[in-house]
Amino acid sequence: MAKLVIQGGKRLQGEVKISGAKNSALPIIVAAALATEGECVLDNIPKDSDVGTICLILRSLGVELWFDQEGKLHVVGSTLNKYQAPYDLVRKMRASFYTAGLLLARMGRAEVPLPGGCAIGSRPVDFHIRGFSQMGADITIEHGFMKATCDKLIGTNYYINRSSVGTTMNLMIAATLAEGTTVLENCAKEPEVVDLAIFLNGMGAQIRGAGTDIIRIEGVEKLRGIEYTIIPDRIEAGTYMFAAAITGGDVLIKDIVIEHLRSPLSKIEEAGVVVEKGATEVRIIAPERLTAIDLETAPYPGFPTDLQQPLVACMTVADGTSVITENIFDRFRYVDELRRMGADIKVERETAIVRGVPQLTGAPVEVTDLRAGAALVIAGLAAAGTTEIYGLDIIDRGYERLEDKLRGLGADIKRVETHEGIDAFAQIETRV
Ligand code: EPZ
Repeated sequence: MAKLVIQGGKRLQGEVKISGAKNSALPIIVAAALATEGECVLDNIPKDSDVGTICLILRSLGVELWFDQEGKLHVVGSTLNKYQAPYDLVRKMRASFYTAGLLLARMGRAEVPLPGGCAIGSRPVDFHIRGFSQMGADITIEHGFMKATCDKLIGTNYYINRSSVGTTMNLMIAATLAEGTTVLENCAKEPEVVDLAIFLNGMGAQIRGAGTDIIRIEGVEKLRGIEYTIIPDRIEAGTYMFAAAITGGDVLIKDIVIEHLRSPLSKIEEAGVVVEKGATEVRIIAPERLTAIDLETAPYPGFPTDLQQPLVACMTVADGTSVITENIFDRFRYVDELRRMGADIKVERETAIVRGVPQLTGAPVEVTDLRAGAALVIAGLAAAGTTEIYGLDIIDRGYERLEDKLRGLGADIKRVETHEGIDAFAQIETRV
């Protein structure tokens, strides 16, 4: 186990390169196994632990995959030969439920553990399951697994209850090889959905409308392997934006798609930051103290829930009071940790009222979920004294080399091994 130790108060300066998007890479790696001809070669794959987990899950299903010397991931879908996803790996990550779409499309049979609740709420997969069922799959829920079979999935019209990234992607994966046409309505419009559709179309799928409310998928006989480059991670980019902002920094964030960050950029400008936009980069020039802003999270193109926590961290030291409403998940548990650092935050149902204080103070804190981890790092960068962040494995799920990149910007941050998890009884003597 390891923790992060941050000495706060350093102004961030310099350049940082953004990695490939985790939330694109996960479904795309799964979808790569739809190909029965040739191999997929995937570039800009972020080396975070969620991506590692999805690779291991696919390997357990028989899919051959490996990284080449340039860091590109090769996926050979034709070797897929099992339909049971292993609980010990799937339990680590909800995105592993994408294997259900893959297995139904390729094998006509899937046994995938139901993801449980997690630190950001109950997060069911009922929309996914209803979609598979409407496409003709015979589904039972037994012993914590979704067991589904079909001769072949059949195209259907399916209205998704509310905008859901995972449902849109899983059903898109499933429908590519279905018989006939699938029309998905009320689809999520996130850039990662569009990235998956472009990738699938490159493999030979017939998908139109990704990025709009209605996606139409004409099923095809088979898909082939292609080379593809994953889009940049807009949430990682946003995290560095807010890290720069809280430290009064001046940071150039490189290798991004600026259009994917419209809402976070406009909010950060409202908070007093000067934003200089280039085609694939953005310079963040922060004032000495940010101004408080109000905000509601919303599906894309609204402000992403994944950046709510980093933004709240910034607002804890802003001038004035912010009202932040979280509309997607139950994602305010981490505010207790920010309070331990001196933040003044009151939560009423899905709204946090954040009264800016002049300064946070470093403290030992615990990560509750991935983006909460990012928020605690951001708070630690600005706090007086030392912040120790426990639960680093959760941050490692979605950030590639976070502490290296921040150190490159002048932060005083290091990873230190801890003795968490040590057997307590081994340390207590036995007396006779
Ligand atoms: C994706 O989760 C992302 N994960 C999340 O990022 C992100 O926060 C979320 O989309 C929203 O943008 C990945 O892409 C791997 P949803 P997902 O289905 O697909 C409800 C991060 O930190 N819902 O769009 O699981 C759900 O509870 C992660 O990187 C159902 O009720 O989210 C939520 O309230 C965390 N039933 C809303 O819909 C369902 O069957 C939107 O969730 C599915 C969803």
